[in-house]
Amino acid sequence: MTKSARLRLQVPLPDFYTSASPEELAGRIGGARRRLGSRLMILGHHYQRDEVMAWADARGDSFGLSRLAADNREAEWIVFCGVHFMAESADVLTAGHQVVMLPDLNAGCSMADMADLDSVEEAWESLAGVTDIERVVPVTYMNSSAALKAFVGDHGGAVCTSSNARAVLSWALGLGDRAAARGDKVLFFPDQHLGRNTGYQLGYGAADMAVWDPRADLGGLDEATVKGSTLLLWKGHCSVHQRFRPAHVEAFRADHPDGLVLVHPECAHEVVEMADQVGSTDHIIRMVEAAAPGSTIGVATEIHLVNRLAAEHPDRSVVCLDPLVCPCSTMFRIDAPHLAWILDGLVEGEVRNRITVDPATARSARLALERMLAIV
Ligand code: 13P
Ligand code: SF4
Repeated sequence: MTKSARLRLQVPLPDFYTSASPEELAGRIGGARRRLGSRLMILGHHYQRDEVMAWADARGDSFGLSRLAADNREAEWIVFCGVHFMAESADVLTAGHQVVMLPDLNAGCSMADMADLDSVEEAWESLAGVTDIERVVPVTYMNSSAALKAFVGDHGGAVCTSSNARAVLSWALGLGDRAAARGDKVLFFPDQHLGRNTGYQLGYGAADMAVWDPRADLGGLDEATVKGSTLLLWKGHCSVHQRFRPAHVEAFRADHPDGLVLVHPECAHEVVEMADQVGSTDHIIRMVEAAAPGSTIGVATEIHLVNRLAAEHPDRSVVCLDPLVCPCSTMFRIDAPHLAWILDGLVEGEVRNRITVDPATARSARLALERMLAIV
């Protein structure tokens, strides 16, 4: 195991939680929430199940939730209903007296696991052998470990999310203000799709971008390609969003010629090119809200969000572009039994599943997160 890929193990829940009825669990969660009052804040990412989202004090995309965590100084306990990297970021951004908890420690993110500190450090060293490393800006997607955010903080880069990748890349490369450029080249990890889609949005072409394969020498590239590329895109992806294919868009358009296609930027570029709108989960929500009653909207993102949008807008037809449905299996791990177990622990005076980032890592990661928050 690499030093950055630590094993996390969720202890099995006591029988009560796994055999309780939804009503019993709701009674338990509601009771604990009342007792804990404003000392508790429950944050819910848009991909969470309804049985969890029903209890969230605030919902959001990964950027919105990181802002909420950074701005809130009241809550003593922050229960993060999302995945591990989000809870880590919340711990980095909250004050020392605030405790962040993740209801199921196994709620990771397969994309975040595609880049670890060892392989990013190796990539950095290889790059330094062929290019002026002082002119390379590392940018990490929020979907990454705190160790990678710290690496980025220490090397002059910033974090980005799906809602601000464009602004962060513009900042890194000084688009609009060349004199303020942080460098001439970006190493972007771990999602090649978000990097590529954003690169195209900024006017770069295929020849300006190359995929960096961490398993191959020099990322599988020759020296000339490294030197000639502005964006080096880590070979990572989201298995949920990569499932959406152009054929899904074609089938939707054939059935609904006037329909609206909304996709998340973790989808492949061929799919993004065919969409009417591309954006973060928050952006997708706003676009559905703005759509005319009676419209049909095909959405390429996680199914819990698509189903919630459909339920909340009965006067519009909101469907998933992939008829085979694509849940995020790690977001799905957070459920009412785990939430009840965490809150019962707090009522009993026990903090369960605390997520902590060690102080040195947190300091550097905070730098990278705060640079992002200052850009947008
Ligand atoms: P958002 O930044 O849109 O919340 O997306 C996070 C995520 O994990 C998408 O797969
Ligand atoms: Fe990670 Fe994809 Fe799940 Fe988002 S949807 S948490 S990127 S695996």
